[in-house]
Amino acid sequence: MASIAIIGTGYVGLTTGACFSHLGHDVICADIDEAKVARLQAGDVPIVEKGLDRLVDEGIRSGKLHFVVGAESASKEAEFHYLCVPTPQGDDGAADLSYLETAASQISHVLPNNSVVVNKSTVPVGSTRVVARVLGRSDVAVVSNPEFLREGTAVADFLQPDRVVIGSRDQEAAIRVAALYSRIAAPIMVTDPVSAETIKYASNAFLASKLSFVNAIATLCEAVGADVNDVVLGMGYDSRIGREFLRPGPGWGGSCFPKDTRALAKIAQDAGYDFRFLNEVLQVNADQFDRTAQKIIDSVDPGLADNHIAALGLTFKAGTDDLRDSPAVEVLERVVGAGMQVKAYDPAVLVDDNRLAIVHPDLDIEVVSDPYAAAEGAASLVILTEWDEFTWLDFDKLREIMIGKNIVDARNLLDPSIPRRRGFNYRGVGR
Ligand code: UGA
Repeated sequence: MASIAIIGTGYVGLTTGACFSHLGHDVICADIDEAKVARLQAGDVPIVEKGLDRLVDEGIRSGKLHFVVGAESASKEAEFHYLCVPTPQGDDGAADLSYLETAASQISHVLPNNSVVVNKSTVPVGSTRVVARVLGRSDVAVVSNPEFLREGTAVADFLQPDRVVIGSRDQEAAIRVAALYSRIAAPIMVTDPVSAETIKYASNAFLASKLSFVNAIATLCEAVGADVNDVVLGMGYDSRIGREFLRPGPGWGGSCFPKDTRALAKIAQDAGYDFRFLNEVLQVNADQFDRTAQKIIDSVDPGLADNHIAALGLTFKAGTDDLRDSPAVEVLERVVGAGMQVKAYDPAVLVDDNRLAIVHPDLDIEVVSDPYAAAEGAASLVILTEWDEFTWLDFDKLREIMIGKNIVDARNLLDPSIPRRRGFNYRGVGR
């Protein structure tokens, strides 16, 4: 079994570290945030990620998973060094590599001979070369091993992946990285670093394109009177299309798709190719936010405009507490911008939680502690995140406490007949 240092304990780094220790490797995870490291040492996982707390607990108990402050202390004795630091979007749309470069320069002088540095963060095409240059160590191989982890199902995605991609010019280093995954049943693909980095961006941008296409089809369905649920079901039976990622919604978001789609457009532009298709994918998504917001605004009957809208869901999808680039927030910004008041509830966002104010300082809404508190006196109710608990709402109770009787289901989460039987007017997406 190998010794692995993980630099950065965000959801990618922490999941990678916990899963590698679960596979039997010796793992040390490093972060610059002392308070976070102290929490992790005590087995306290700071993010909502299914199954992760159990793996962290298991790793700490077995002595195979450790947390330290600072990259150097983690890297000085490890054979593999996974860089899992953020690559936020810079002002020009390109990814900001400063965290990656800082991490590489911090570990460069402590790396044991013949160790392997692995880029796990989503990094622009060519970054493996950048890291190698910053390291300045001819005895250390730099390999790309992009992650395909969805927030909320990151542990399952790591342990049962569709594929493992390794980008390396050094065959021996590639084989050593591949061996880390020997207990995982998945195709392992070895290619050059630039292709591995491109695979990551192309995958995210393709999935984002698929969603923009589906949302455009949903709009068409509304115009021609088709039911998008049936349309995507019929499309998904075709194995060339596949069933996944065909759910229409309020627009797509999260910390990866918007950033990576823009970054790929910028990478293409810098390389001399105008990837107009991606600009259109992004524009269709912005249109979807606008359209969803307009539906909500239209759902308020004239005469009830003084009353608030009840918004259910704030996170960018169910199963995570992540609010970054959330479609729900994008839509609510537009609704609030049109002069509406909003009371919102999300099971992963607590009332005294100030993350919303940090991530979206300009969003002026009230966060409440349960869906009925949001709905009390509401002119209209909207579902923006597909939390399962919203399917169990008591519509009789909602009918009593709401002033209006319109529901906008921007995730097609509900069976429309249920609210309709209770006297609500229901509008979904594309049906
Ligand atoms: C995404 C990719 O799916 C991962 O493979 C990738 O590793 C990750 O980005 C990353 O680059 O780190 P994630 O951002 O966690 O994962 O979220 P997704 O589950 O892909 O959802 C993205 C957005 O698409 C969400 O707003 C979600 O609600 C929306 N979506 C997804 C739909 O509207 N419909 C669908 O059918 C699926």
